[in-house]
Amino acid sequence: MTTATGTTAPTGAVGAAHTRVEGLAKVTGAARYAGDIPYTELAHGWLVLSTIARGRIGSVESAPVLAMPGVLAVLHHGNAPRVDGDYTGPLGPPDPILQVFQHDRVPFAGWPVALVVAETPEQAREAAEALVVHYDEEPHDVAFHAGNPRSYTPEGPQAETSKGDLDAELAASAVAVDAEYTTPEEHHNPMEPHAAMARWDSGRLEVVDTNQGSKFVADELAKLFSLDPASVRVRSEHVGGAFGAKGTRPHQVLAVMAATALHRPVRVVMTRRQMFSLIGYRSPTAQRVRLGADADGRLRALDHAADCRTSTVYEFIERSADYGRSMYDADAHHTVNRVVPLDVPTPTWMRAPGEAPGSFALESALDELAEKCGIDPIALRARNEPDAGPVSGLPFSSRNLLACFEEGARRFGWADRDPRPGLRREGRWLVGTGTASATFPVLVAPSTAAVTAEADGTFTVRITAADVGTGARTALTQIAADALEVAPERIRMKIADSDFGPAMIAGGSMGTRSWGWAVTAAACELREQLALGGAIPPQGITVRSDTTKDLATLTAKERYSFGAQFAEVAVDVTSGEVRVRRMLGVFAAGRIINPLTARSQLIGGMIWGLSMALHEEAVRDEASGGLVGADLAGYHIAANADVPLIEADWVDDPDADDPVGIKGIGEIGIVGAAAAIANAVWHATGVRHRDLPIRPDRVL
Ligand code: MOS
Repeated sequence: MTTATGTTAPTGAVGAAHTRVEGLAKVTGAARYAGDIPYTELAHGWLVLSTIARGRIGSVESAPVLAMPGVLAVLHHGNAPRVDGDYTGPLGPPDPILQVFQHDRVPFAGWPVALVVAETPEQAREAAEALVVHYDEEPHDVAFHAGNPRSYTPEGPQAETSKGDLDAELAASAVAVDAEYTTPEEHHNPMEPHAAMARWDSGRLEVVDTNQGSKFVADELAKLFSLDPASVRVRSEHVGGAFGAKGTRPHQVLAVMAATALHRPVRVVMTRRQMFSLIGYRSPTAQRVRLGADADGRLRALDHAADCRTSTVYEFIERSADYGRSMYDADAHHTVNRVVPLDVPTPTWMRAPGEAPGSFALESALDELAEKCGIDPIALRARNEPDAGPVSGLPFSSRNLLACFEEGARRFGWADRDPRPGLRREGRWLVGTGTASATFPVLVAPSTAAVTAEADGTFTVRITAADVGTGARTALTQIAADALEVAPERIRMKIADSDFGPAMIAGGSMGTRSWGWAVTAAACELREQLALGGAIPPQGITVRSDTTKDLATLTAKERYSFGAQFAEVAVDVTSGEVRVRRMLGVFAAGRIINPLTARSQLIGGMIWGLSMALHEEAVRDEASGGLVGADLAGYHIAANADVPLIEADWVDDPDADDPVGIKGIGEIGIVGAAAAIANAVWHATGVRHRDLPIRPDRVL
C-alpha cells in the first residue's frame, strides 16, 4: 500500500519560507477555537475543585445550588455515571484523574469534586462558587527535597543505567566535580485554556476540543465510556498552544458525562487557575552530578542521579538523567531517575520532559569541569564526543553536535572570549557569556493519511495531525506539495479529525516526522497512479497510507537531534537582576521543512529556556498543599522586555531514513538554554548558580 521510500522530485516547497496556511483566518478571528463555537441548546459546565490536599469528600450540598437561576445539574461522586479506567492506552494506563467523580477520595489540592452545569457560563460559575462541599481532611505532605526517604527507583529497564566502576574511576580522576542542582515546579499553561464541547448526534458522540491528538482522545473516551471507537468523533481544528498539556484531561470526560446526562450539548472550559492543577506540569527536580576526568578533560566517570516528584495516584517520571545517556561517554557511566510520591497533582510531559532540567544539571556541571581543567567549554565537549551511544553502544544515525558548535562559535564571536570570570564590567553591569549542548531523541510513530486527487485539479489531504501553533498544517502542505510535485496552493490540508484515522499526536517532537512520512507515502503513490493517465471521476481518486510496516523495518540506532546554545548576560551588581543580552542556538535537527515556522519554534523554546533560567517557579504552600499564585501574574514567565536578540539557525543534517529527511524540532529549542545562561552568569560574576530560577535575591 505504501511507498514510504518512494523518491520525490521536490518542487521546492519543502525548505522554502511559507506563511501559515491558516494565518489569515487566525489573525482575522475567523478561526474559531473550541471555547468559541456556538451551539443550539449549549449548556455550560463549571468545575469545582477540592480545597483540601488530602482526605475524603463528606457531602456535596447540591440542593441550594440546584435552586439557583439557570442551574441544570450538579455532578459529583455520588451521582456521576461510572467510567472504566481499566485499560492501557498508547501512552500507558490512564491518569486516574480521568476517572472523574468515581470515588470520594481527594489525593491533592485542586482535585475535581463537582461539575455544575447551567444555561450560561456566568450562571454555572456563580453556582459553582456557591457550592458547599464538606471534607474529612487528612494530613498531607507536599514538601519535595533531595533524599526524601519515600523516594524510590521505578520499575523497568529505563530507570537506571550503569557501566564500569564509578568509585574507582572517580578515585583515579585528576579533576572532579560533585554538585547538586535543583529546578522548581514549572507549569506549561497554553494561551488557549482547555475547553471541550460534547454532544450526541444521531447515535454518535461528537467532541469539539483543543488537543494534541484527536484520535488518541477519541479512543480514550471510547474506552472510558465503553463505546465503539467508531461511534466517537473528536475534532480540534485550532489549538492555541499545548506543550504536552493537551492530551485527555478531565474536561473532555466531564463534558461527555454531562451531555449524556442532560441530552444536550455541554461545554466545559477550564479557568487559568484550574489549569494549574488539572493539566499537568513539570515536576521539581533535585539532581546530583558527579564527573571525574583526566587533566585534559577526558571523562573517566559520569554519574547523574535525578530525583523528581509525582502524585500518590500515578507514577509520572521526569526523566532528567536520560540526558547523559546519549551525550557523553565515560569509562564508568551511571544514570538513574528516582521519584517520590507526594500529595500533589500528577505531573506530565512538559516541553522537553527530562531533557530540559537534565541538561541544566549536566551542562552546568560540564562548565564547572571545564573551569577546573582550564579548558574551553566547547573544547571539553569536543574531547568527549562519543563514537557510539554511551549506554547502548549503537551507532549514531548522525551526530552533528560539533558542526553546531563550530558554526555557533563563529557567529557568536566565541573565540574572543576571555575565560576568566568576573572581569568584564560596564557601569553597574557584570557581563559574561556561556554555552551548552542540546539534544533530543528522534522518534517516529505509525500514522495513516489519505490523499485525494479532486476532479478540479486540486488535492485534499486528510490526516489526524494536530497543529498546536507550531505550523504543522503548513509544513504538511509543503511536504504534500513536493511529494505530489504540485504547487502548495493546490493542496487543501484537513487535519485534527479523529474520523481521518489513527495518527501520532503532536508530541515527543514526533508529529511532523510521523505525519510527513504518512502523507509522503500516500501522495507518492497517488502521483504514480495519476502518471498513468485517465480521467479523474467526480468523487476524485483517493490513496491511503499506513506507515506501520515501514517503521517496523527501521534499524536500531542512536537517533538524536543536537544543538549548541550560546548566551550573553549582564548582571546588575546593585539589584542582582540578570538580563540576557543575546542568545544564539544552532541546531542539527534534520531537514527543515519551513524556515519561517521552524525558526519561530526554536526561538520559542530558547525563550522558554530563558524563562526557566530566570523567572519560572511555582511555589507550593506546604500548609494548604496548593499553589501560591496559580495564575500568569503570580507565576512569572519571560515577558517581551526580558527577551533580547535571539537567533536560531541550523546546519545541514537530513535524516537518512526519513523520506523527507525530517528529525523533529518540537522540543530541542529549550534544551541547554538555561544551562548556557547559568554558565554565562558564572562567567559574569564568578558565582555558580545551581538552583533555578536565578532570582535577584539569589544573585546578591
Ligand atoms: Mo511534548 S512535552 O512531547 O507533548
